[in-house]
Amino acid sequence: MKIVVIQGPNLNMLGHREQNIYGGMKLEEIHSQMEAVAKQNGFEIEFFQSNLEGEIVDKVQECLGDAEGIIINPAAYTHSSIAIRDAISAVSLPCIEVHISNIYRREEFRQKSMIAAVCTGQISGFGPFGYHLAMISMMQMLGEIDALRKAQAAQQAKA
Ligand code: DQA
Repeated sequence: MKIVVIQGPNLNMLGHREQNIYGGMKLEEIHSQMEAVAKQNGFEIEFFQSNLEGEIVDKVQECLGDAEGIIINPAAYTHSSIAIRDAISAVSLPCIEVHISNIYRREEFRQKSMIAAVCTGQISGFGPFGYHLAMISMMQMLGEIDALRKAQAAQQAKA
């Protein structure tokens, strides 16, 4: 089973940008930790970062038929992008929204997520550890979905 991790604008600057808000970890470090967890648990994982809204929409669309779940930090597009929201809604895959900072404790314009309502859940304010929480939640969810599918297939084979 495959999980795709999508990172929005300026997250390639992690480790450099506003360390008081986002911490000192680089995106590559976050990704290598996620990769290790995925491997340990037998999941395939792919990482994608873009500063462009349309590329993020394309990547979400590409997940259809290619992945079982999406972990996304849409960064600044969280607060504005109906296009990313619609893409997530269209593919209808389990999707977890991650924010390193607690967006509800920050400026008013960050306190609204266009994305949250089409996601399974949101993790906000736990620093880079939020990506690990998202991995645990996603693996648990996909495991349950898989078990349900197998049970249904076994039932049908009996009938
Ligand atoms: C962010 C929060 C957004 O408001 C901001 O634009 C980001 C990062 C976070 O992870 O805390 O770029 O998504």
